[in-house]
Amino acid sequence: MTHKKNENNPSSSSKPANTQWGGRFSGGPAAIMAEINASIGFDQQLWRQDIQGSLAHAAMLCKVGLLTEEEEEEIRHGLSQIAHEIEAGHFEFSEALEDIHMNIEARLAEKIGEAGKRLHTARSRNDQVATDFRLWVRQAIDGIIAQTESLMLTLARQALAYHALPMPGFTHLQVAQPVTFGHHLLAYVEMLNRDISRLKDGRRRLNECPLGSAALAGTSFPIDRKMTAQALGFDRPSANSLDAVSDRDFALDYLSTLSIEAMHLSRLAEEIVQWASAAFNFISLSDGFTTGSSIMPQKRNPDAAELVRAKIGRIMGDFVGLLTVMKGLPLAYAKDTQEDKEPVFDATRAITLSLAVMEGMIRDLKPNEKRMRELAGAGFSTATDLADWLVRVLRVPFRTAHHITGTLVSLAEKKNCDLAELSLSDMQKVEPGITSDIFSVLTVEASLASRTSEGGTAPQNVKSQAERWISTLTQNKNLEG
Ligand code: ARG
Repeated sequence: MTHKKNENNPSSSSKPANTQWGGRFSGGPAAIMAEINASIGFDQQLWRQDIQGSLAHAAMLCKVGLLTEEEEEEIRHGLSQIAHEIEAGHFEFSEALEDIHMNIEARLAEKIGEAGKRLHTARSRNDQVATDFRLWVRQAIDGIIAQTESLMLTLARQALAYHALPMPGFTHLQVAQPVTFGHHLLAYVEMLNRDISRLKDGRRRLNECPLGSAALAGTSFPIDRKMTAQALGFDRPSANSLDAVSDRDFALDYLSTLSIEAMHLSRLAEEIVQWASAAFNFISLSDGFTTGSSIMPQKRNPDAAELVRAKIGRIMGDFVGLLTVMKGLPLAYAKDTQEDKEPVFDATRAITLSLAVMEGMIRDLKPNEKRMRELAGAGFSTATDLADWLVRVLRVPFRTAHHITGTLVSLAEKKNCDLAELSLSDMQKVEPGITSDIFSVLTVEASLASRTSEGGTAPQNVKSQAERWISTLTQNKNLEG
């Protein structure tokens, strides 16, 4: 068949059948079939895990007598040469061989002959890919945990530095009560810590080994699944072969956790965008994490924060995408699950980048202390402190105290002054029991210092929380250095 004829008739192909499974085929796939079928364009990222899995499988086959020691030695040697070829960029990935598993296996046979062709005994690509992909996701989880801890440490260090710096605390984005900047930053440390807990949960559930489930039903060969599971660092072999080859819950667990973490980063990024705006003017960002405008020379744009704010879009999209792929899939393996990898790779790249950029922004940012302090006291932010004083000193019921304070706020509004600028006699006209002691609670500093309840914003609380996080996080020696 000529090249031209092939183009006119895309349902047949002059290509030979696949060398790995083509025994019953006389012709090769249509060009467009090869294109939709092949995953090598993206699953080559699994090459390390694929070789790792094959090494464990070969060692096991040897131990149970399905490979001789010489054969196993040849396989090990061949796979390590292939690893070098891939690392050096010399390996020729072939679309005709569809995926990473067949690319490596075919190359092995090419290099070492018969022994290479025995490697696939008691194994299918179905349990092979499920194993490789678990190994990949497990490693990604470990990397993201380390990166998240490192961001937490950076936040905690800034929180310690600014444990007493007042800033306005908001509800409804309206000034509510003074808090400290350190307290605000530590709120994100708590969120990220829950993300780590979810990542660890998912890792624990993921850590069962599908290898040995074969195509779907297990195998008649006397394999030792505990041995391969252990060699690959899994807690145990999976219990049901049908489930093992078709389950992608571990990838969904991972993507849902990344979606929540990306949401946290998005919230922090949004705050950074607000704080860096001229209207807030709470912080300045470093040159390293901002850009200029090509038309407005005065501008410094928080692009890095905006991009981190946006990454949730693709990460959550990756989660919903894979969940939709899995919906309605009958047991056991179906090619649909080949669509599991790109969303996982994409989300991993996005969160990795986001965490690194967020850490850089937080490390470099400088608060505008004067401005934050000023605004912390604006908008009658100590009104609750005034009401609390009425409750504590005069034993006025809180609901009544709330009402009295509201009247004082509206008086101050009319006089265009702060609560602390009202005269004692003005106050006594509203509540005769008020004494000059009340002025001691109307400052921002007094308000902050009084918030000593567990988890409250009192600078002493914030300091010890920040110190606790720093010491917890630096005990993990991965972080330092
Ligand atoms: N590339 C495939 C995937 O990622 C490997 C498994 C193929 N198995 C099969 N029976 N065709 O899902």
